[in-house]
Amino acid sequence: MNIKHGKVIRINGPAVYADETGAMNMGDQVLIGELELTGEIIRQDGDISTIQVYEDTTGVKPGEEVVGTNEPLSVELGPGLLSSIYDGIQRPLDKIHEISGSFIGRGISVPKISKEKIWHFIPVAKKGDVVSGNDILGTVQETELLNHKILVPPKVSGTITEMIDEGDYTVEEIIAKVSNDKGEQELKMYHKWAVRIPRPVVQRLEPNIPLFTGQRVIDFFFTIARGGTAAIPGGFGTGKTVTQHQLAKYSDANLIVYIGCGERGNEMTQVLQEFPELKDPKTGLPLMDRTVLIANTSNMPVTAREASIYTGITIAEYYRDMGLHIAIMADSTSRWAEALREISGRLEEMPAEEGYPAYLASRLAEFYERAGRAEVGGKIEKREGSVSVIGAVSPQGGDFSEPVTQHTKRFVRAFWALDKSLAGARHFPSINWNNSYSEYVSDVAEWWKKEGGDFNYQEMRERAMTILQEENRLEQVVKLVGPDALPDRQRLILTTAKLIKEAFLQQNAFHDNDVYCTPEKQLRMMDVILHFHDEAGKIIAKGVPCVQLLSLDIIPRIIRMKTDVPCDKAADISKLKDEIDYVLGDLVK
Ligand SMILES: Nc1ncnc2c1ncn2[C@@H]1O[C@H](COP(=O)(O)OP(=O)(O)O)[C@@H](O)[C@H]1O
Ligand SMILES: [Mg+2]
Repeated sequence: MNIKHGKVIRINGPAVYADETGAMNMGDQVLIGELELTGEIIRQDGDISTIQVYEDTTGVKPGEEVVGTNEPLSVELGPGLLSSIYDGIQRPLDKIHEISGSFIGRGISVPKISKEKIWHFIPVAKKGDVVSGNDILGTVQETELLNHKILVPPKVSGTITEMIDEGDYTVEEIIAKVSNDKGEQELKMYHKWAVRIPRPVVQRLEPNIPLFTGQRVIDFFFTIARGGTAAIPGGFGTGKTVTQHQLAKYSDANLIVYIGCGERGNEMTQVLQEFPELKDPKTGLPLMDRTVLIANTSNMPVTAREASIYTGITIAEYYRDMGLHIAIMADSTSRWAEALREISGRLEEMPAEEGYPAYLASRLAEFYERAGRAEVGGKIEKREGSVSVIGAVSPQGGDFSEPVTQHTKRFVRAFWALDKSLAGARHFPSINWNNSYSEYVSDVAEWWKKEGGDFNYQEMRERAMTILQEENRLEQVVKLVGPDALPDRQRLILTTAKLIKEAFLQQNAFHDNDVYCTPEKQLRMMDVILHFHDEAGKIIAKGVPCVQLLSLDIIPRIIRMKTDVPCDKAADISKLKDEIDYVLGDLVK
């Protein structure tokens, strides 16, 4: 490696200016001063470079040396990522902690993934195989929950000239040699990848399979597809974090990358304490066995927060390339955007809306565009993988007209608008059905058709949405004249809408039978509600007053079906339909 040197000339917070750096490249990582603080060249003007530094620059002096590493800001990808807790530039927080105590020291160099840990490697490829990037060299059981495929790094191709035998090795061991007309390359169990460059795929696939979450308001009404994008905007205390934790625990992703951009220090501490204790609901194994956690507490430099979403999504893409489905959560992208704003201010750039830099929108787009469902793999084998991105947005005072929410809205296809008044009324998840949307609903219709058996998901969803929208309209009338002025047919709309809200949309994250809901249970529940609506409509047409329906004790039973009936007895829910017939029949008599 050809190391280059420059000199610090000016320091402004995380922005450092250096001279004699003309031989370095835009995007190169550099080490600054005696402490060897990590930075990245973000602008070059002749010999002068602007460097964004990922650590506190207090004490750095003009004249100190700047060493170019000749490589861009990168992550190390290989076994050992899972269960790790990293900062924004992939430094393991626990290791830093051991070295420097509770305050994160500066210039600490720790391996991103362990170079000492022994893995049992089982070869898949063999000598003589012609491989290209993303072909599988072998496998390692990384955690009980995840079999890690060791991939040929993208851009490498050729014939395998040497292949190691099955055995126990560290990631530093050379496991294979690949040669082509340009020469021979030695491959290890890990490789580096520049975080700001998306990893290549064979081809993008239509996102037409839901990322099933077990959360009814999401799956049934505002679904996110595998490889899709969703935003959860909401003011303080509306349930962004709980929703993301629910998805981390229950969505059918193989692997979770959770990026915590701490709203407040203690919130991040909660994540760091809680996550390692969570259990995977399906296997009972620690959830961390399929999780990579990236944490940025508010006392960490803002620049590392800026880098964190790229570090996170690059790790997600790497596991996608193994043929896995990854869900990446960022909580909250508003804090990330604030980091961008702060750095931009230090760089003395021209501010745009609310002080954010003009490139806020393009940066958000770059992040969300890395989501997708794709065919991946090399010459030998193709696989399917996906990266779904779910970003929380925390606008000041819950005002969705601010720039981060507005720009995010342009780049995501599902929008789960959290609502302060719903949260205040303890309606959780507080996703407002009137201003939330999903553009994946028709894409996943085929999936529901297969899953749904006799149920017509699309028709059921449309009917329920219509009832909710009609209720929204009627509520305006009720506010003016009271419910008594409405004809009975319209009062029934209000009653059914109440059932949809209380029986279906509300879901208790802290009740064993309700925390997760299977597709079958969701369909049967909605079927019961719509059956009630149809049958009640018939008896109202026969002259039975709507008020009589309200006092029926079948109503609270419908509301309780979610907690009364566990998922594995979902068929029992449909028995309520016979009871509805019976009770309503009685009313007519
Ligand atoms: N799905 C849910 N079920 C039950 N309670 C919830 C749910 N979502 C949120 N809450 C309640 O709301 C509180 C605040 O939620 P939180 O996710 O921390 O808000 P935010 O991250 O938006 O500030 C939680 O502590 C919890 O009491
Ligand atoms: Mg939160």
